[in-house]
Amino acid sequence: MGQPRGGALVLVVLVLLPCAAAAALPPAPSPEAAPPPVVLVRPIPSPAASSDLDPKQLTALQSMNLPTTRDPCSIPPPRNFTACDSATPFRRLVALTLANCSSDLDISATALRALAPSLRSLSFLFCPVPLFKLPPQLSSSLRSFSCAASLRRLTGVWLSRLANLTDLTVTDATITASGPSVILSQMYNLRRLTISRTNLAGFLPHHWHSLNLTSVDLSANQLRGPVHGSIGQLQSLELLNLSSNSLSGVLPAAVANLVSLKNASLARNSLSGPIPETLSEMAALVHLDLSSNQFNGTLPRFLSEMRALKYLNLGDNNFHGVLPFNASFIKRLEVFRVGGNNNLCYNHTLLSSKLKLGIAPCDRHGLPVSPPPSRAAPSDSSDYTSGDDGSSGRGSGGGGGGHHGPSRIVLGVAIGLSCLVFLIIFIVCLSKVCG
Ligand SMILES: *[C@@H]1O[C@H](CO)[C@@H](O)[C@H](O)[C@H]1NC(C)=O
Ligand SMILES: *[C@@H]1O[C@H](CO)[C@@H](O)[C@H](O)[C@H]1NC(C)=O
Ligand SMILES: *[C@@H]1O[C@H](CO)[C@@H](O)[C@H](O)[C@H]1NC(C)=O
Ligand SMILES: *[C@@H]1O[C@H](CO)[C@@H](O)[C@H](O)[C@H]1NC(C)=O
Ligand SMILES: *[C@@H]1O[C@H](CO)[C@@H](O)[C@H](O)[C@H]1NC(C)=O
Ligand SMILES: *[C@@H]1O[C@H](CO)[C@@H](O)[C@H](O)[C@H]1NC(C)=O
Ligand SMILES: *[C@@H]1O[C@H](CO)[C@@H](O)[C@H](O)[C@H]1NC(C)=O
Ligand SMILES: *[C@@H]1O[C@H](CO)[C@@H](O)[C@H](O)[C@H]1NC(C)=O
Ligand SMILES: *[C@@H]1O[C@H](CO)[C@@H](O)[C@H](O)[C@H]1NC(C)=O
Repeated sequence: MGQPRGGALVLVVLVLLPCAAAAALPPAPSPEAAPPPVVLVRPIPSPAASSDLDPKQLTALQSMNLPTTRDPCSIPPPRNFTACDSATPFRRLVALTLANCSSDLDISATALRALAPSLRSLSFLFCPVPLFKLPPQLSSSLRSFSCAASLRRLTGVWLSRLANLTDLTVTDATITASGPSVILSQMYNLRRLTISRTNLAGFLPHHWHSLNLTSVDLSANQLRGPVHGSIGQLQSLELLNLSSNSLSGVLPAAVANLVSLKNASLARNSLSGPIPETLSEMAALVHLDLSSNQFNGTLPRFLSEMRALKYLNLGDNNFHGVLPFNASFIKRLEVFRVGGNNNLCYNHTLLSSKLKLGIAPCDRHGLPVSPPPSRAAPSDSSDYTSGDDGSSGRGSGGGGGGHHGPSRIVLGVAIGLSCLVFLIIFIVCLSKVCG
């Protein structure tokens, strides 16, 4: 008994070990440090390769203990950690990615100053070095900054100095800040913002400085308080992800001003009140996830008139009343979830129980029939525990327009007949053996 279990444990440890190493708390030593020079010998048939990296920048990279055995501008992907321009006589660094950093990585202000004039993009990936001093030249030159599972003791004030960014991404790190407003206070040109899984606390900004934002992902933090109507000023916004925070209050009518919004998730918060009527004006909406909140009221019929919609998750809320959607709308969607709304029901003369909606049929008063859908529970649970892709099975019926009934009868008859045939053969064989 103990043997297999011990084996399984060893297996689990073996499987987990590389992951633990990748996420290593202190920077791991040499093995995963630099790409070995051997790999880099292949010459690159690039027209720009004729010119070398600016000697000052080369020295800067060397002082950081980065691998510069060959021209760092000519390392072929995917091993390349730089991108260079094609300036003459010397090329200059425009992008630098520090990944899987070794413990001898040394980020000095002098080195950063040498890179600053041309550097537009700086990324850290699994690089948990302590936060370094940011020279002003670099903070004004950077357009893109990315930090994934990197940089210890990151603060909002430090990030806020990157005032010229168009792209900011911080994931799987801890940011010490009173809220997103501190970070964003001077970023007037920001277009894409991702701060996710960072423990960021505080409130959503009252005021957005950069009205050209196309993407805002502040998911999986500790944001609380309301979603202010000022979010409606972001008329270029295509993606809004505020999921997995502690936001509360009602959705402001002004969300309707988000006319470019395609993907929206407010899932897993404590939002309440009804779906605002004005939502019908968000004509571009493809993906709407309001699941696991305390939204209430009846569901608005206009949702089924939103032509672009493909994904609609309203599960685990407090919606009530009769589901106002017909089967052709529900079948058109890739994902449709309303389960986990105990006072919501469907009209069984209009919608088949085969849709497995995860809610009870209505009685004649529009209330869920008294015993909650215990009979339907096993199949329903498969629909809404399988998560975001729960509806994949439904697509098969799409073309046929819901003619499941007859085909099921045919299948039943076929199975019955084959059983009968098998039984006859069995009896014949048996009689031969016995006789
Ligand atoms: C970093 O290390 C991980 C595994 O240790 C590897 O999969 C990944 O490709 C490395 N990334 C870079 C950019 O070297
Ligand atoms: C590596 O090269 C590719 C192709 O030129 C480029 O798109 C990418 O940004 C480079 N990687 C880094 C980390 O600069
Ligand atoms: C942003 O970039 C512009 C143009 O390069 C520069 O003039 C300006 O000083 C920068 N702004 C900040 C706050 O660094
Ligand atoms: C926002 O976008 C518009 C149109 O693309 C542009 O004219 C404007 O300068 C941009 N504003 C900022 C602050 O980048
Ligand atoms: C929102 O963020 C969560 C967690 O970071 C992610 O799983 C989900 O796919 C995102 N949704 C959208 C619509 O971007
Ligand atoms: C719906 O939620 C709002 C806001 O929390 C609350 O004021 C209202 O009483 C709730 N209505 C119902 C019917 O539960
Ligand atoms: C937007 O939603 C669609 C439909 O659910 C999905 O296929 C797509 O990946 C989403 N895009 C982003 C950026 O989350
Ligand atoms: C289903 O509902 C949609 C939107 O409410 C409507 O446009 C469509 O005609 C309805 N289809 C049927 C078959 O009733
Ligand atoms: C269900 O639909 C039928 C046919 O349209 C209608 O007569 C009935 O009132 C509806 N029931 C409820 C509870 O809405």
